[in-house]
Amino acid sequence: MSRPEWFEDERFWESTYPFIFEEERFAAGEAEVAELAKLTGSPFRRVLDLCCGPGRHSIPLARQGARVTAVDRSPFLLEKAKSRADLEKLDVEWVQEDMRLFVRPDEFDLVISLFTSFGYFGDEENLTVLRNVFRSLAPGGFFIIDVMGKEIVARSFAASAVEKKSDGSTRVETREIIDDWYRIRSRWFLIQDEKVTKITFDTALYSGRELVDLLKKAGFENVKLFGSLQGISYDLRAQRLVAVARKSGE
Ligand SMILES: C[S@@+](CC[C@H](N)C(=O)[O-])C[C@H]1O[C@@H](n2cnc3c(N)ncnc32)[C@H](O)[C@@H]1O
Repeated sequence: MSRPEWFEDERFWESTYPFIFEEERFAAGEAEVAELAKLTGSPFRRVLDLCCGPGRHSIPLARQGARVTAVDRSPFLLEKAKSRADLEKLDVEWVQEDMRLFVRPDEFDLVISLFTSFGYFGDEENLTVLRNVFRSLAPGGFFIIDVMGKEIVARSFAASAVEKKSDGSTRVETREIIDDWYRIRSRWFLIQDEKVTKITFDTALYSGRELVDLLKKAGFENVKLFGSLQGISYDLRAQRLVAVARKSGE
């Protein structure tokens, strides 16, 4: 049997959880949810949070009355999300499924893929994910995707970084551009109680234009780019690559 990919390894999500999903990130998720309708200019009711993780967006969306389906392949992260939602007795449909497989034709007004939850596979499978999203949207529905843009990485590339947390644990990261700028390889050394956990993961890097082209290939005709979820322009000040794509109405 072949070795699981990094995103299929539960130990990856368990060991990185304290570094990726600090409590402040949940507050940020809540603020981001407030921006979604401003980005699309359209209200929504039925939402698919694709790769929901521990529910940073699904939970505030459900709190504000949206009917949320939250999909993730990690049982560990889904359990984290469920227990947070249960504390508030929120009704969310949690689905353990791979984004390459999940499709519910014409079901959602809004699909979100936030915080670099895209670009984990080869070209064909990445496109399959976008085609699944397109099919799952109702006519006139919107898709919001938020990844790290290639232009931003080129502008502000740092080959290494160190983050020390208040509990004494430390993350040392090195980054490398690989496959002729198609991907970025990150190596994390997580130091907790004198123990070092080493992980490596690769994610695709899209330029704004490449992401637009891929979304169009998946069926979206109308795609706009932004440089943050707050809606700044995708220019030299961009912090993220955010695309808002609309499925044509009937
Ligand atoms: C960086 S996290 C972002 C989580 C969430 N969107 C957020 O903003 O907090 C990426 C998520 O993608 C999920 N994931 C990775 N590969 C997946 C796959 N093949 N199918 C479905 N979910 C996947 C992970 O389990 C993780 O929850």
